Amino acid sequence: MPPSPVNRRDFVRVAAFTAGSLAMGGWVAACSGDGPVGVTDPTVSMGGGGGGIRYPLRIPPVVTPGGLTLTAAPGSTTILPGKNTTAWMYNGQFPGPTIQAASGTSGARVSFVNQLSQQSITHWHGLFVDPANDGHPRQAVAPGGSYRYQLTISQRAALAFYHPHPNMLTGEQVYRGLAGAFIVRDAVDTGAPGNPLALPTGSYELPLIIRDASFDSSGNFQRGCNCMMSGSLGNTPLVNGTYAPYLAVARGVYRFRVLNGCTGRVLRLALSNGTPFTLIGNDGGLLDRVCTVAEIMAAPAERFDVLLDFRGLSAGSKVMLRDLAANWDLLEFRGTGAAGTGSVPSGSLSTIARLSTPATTRRFTFDGTRINGKRYDIGAVEFRVPFNTTERWTFIGTSNGPHPVHVHGAAFQVRSRTGGRGRLYDWERGWKDTVMVNTGETVDVLIRFKAHRGLYLLHCHQLAHEDAGMMANFEVA
Ligand code: C2O
Ligand code: CU
Ligand code: CU
Repeated sequence: MPPSPVNRRDFVRVAAFTAGSLAMGGWVAACSGDGPVGVTDPTVSMGGGGGGIRYPLRIPPVVTPGGLTLTAAPGSTTILPGKNTTAWMYNGQFPGPTIQAASGTSGARVSFVNQLSQQSITHWHGLFVDPANDGHPRQAVAPGGSYRYQLTISQRAALAFYHPHPNMLTGEQVYRGLAGAFIVRDAVDTGAPGNPLALPTGSYELPLIIRDASFDSSGNFQRGCNCMMSGSLGNTPLVNGTYAPYLAVARGVYRFRVLNGCTGRVLRLALSNGTPFTLIGNDGGLLDRVCTVAEIMAAPAERFDVLLDFRGLSAGSKVMLRDLAANWDLLEFRGTGAAGTGSVPSGSLSTIARLSTPATTRRFTFDGTRINGKRYDIGAVEFRVPFNTTERWTFIGTSNGPHPVHVHGAAFQVRSRTGGRGRLYDWERGWKDTVMVNTGETVDVLIRFKAHRGLYLLHCHQLAHEDAGMMANFEVA
């Protein structure tokens, strides 16, 4: 399918709409706040999708990793109605194709080809692969170069994602369009016959990659203010690269694999009719048990596995997925009235082996764009972590939050948050690889590196912070 959501008939209607409502204000206002949380800009008129014309949600094509070539290159796509956008894309897709792999995949060969004008490398965020395959910035390849991966995946099912990770250029490359979902499957998760969870599958399971962007009058991405203190905030939400999307839904239960793919914006997800989300998973796969949450605070790079029950949604009825922080309409669900399938599980979902008795405590302050006062040094190793040993890592938000703190090479369990919000949330149960640390908060996690030894990264996933040096190398030895 060509990446254009606009058909011929819509094009005519859209032309009139474009002239009136695509005001591009908002950048300056977005830059002057303290940070991405709760930024509400009344001058932005695009967030709600304008006068009500909405477009079918794009579903990225699904591919498997064995033999896959991922080419990052500039290209043209249509995002805003009737306009062409030059984006940087994986295999010409915005967002990139959804990679799907079974846990137990061994040595899948993926080639990354860099046809950008900058160095790049691809990182598999949430996969616990060996350092040679992790996409560390040291492995970035020059324009015209390529990198061969051999991915061995032995972790539990989860929604991971892939994106560029070159030193100091990650934010720009992600902002220009480079990111895609990576779904790991296992026996619990597949929806195979006999699976007691019977999670929605097929057309009832969809990735939702939510991100923001700003556009210039010709429809190209505007790089934004790029002020390091607040990061780049776009004034327009996109879901799976779709502007003002809708999804037609049958009377069934849907499973949405949600990623906050923004470079720096924290979302507060909620449904317009006040129905809570049925939360079943997060970064690290299924939770221990089903939770219902009215609202989800989603920092960049965090993932959420949610079920929405549309069994009672009649033909013509609508429910909106909203971002309460920016007061945005993100995605409209439109009931078709068609008979659907599915049920909502209750109670226990999976077993989470609890980490305990940490051997060491390490403290990390997140201050300005520094970790423990240091700017990222790509050649250095800041600390060494013993293999297969549980440690307590304490993340302290000293200033300039929120900081979505992310670790490569292992998942962690969040144990406590003191100061600031002073509590943990249901989506912070189970296994995580990214946790949000606000200014004034201290977040304790337990972590154990049991997959591989070697060089990994700890960093802030506010990409403007990351690119300004809020990152540290460490070695598992
Ligand atoms: Cu998603 Cu090191 O990053
Ligand atoms: Cu990562
Ligand atoms: Cu940060």
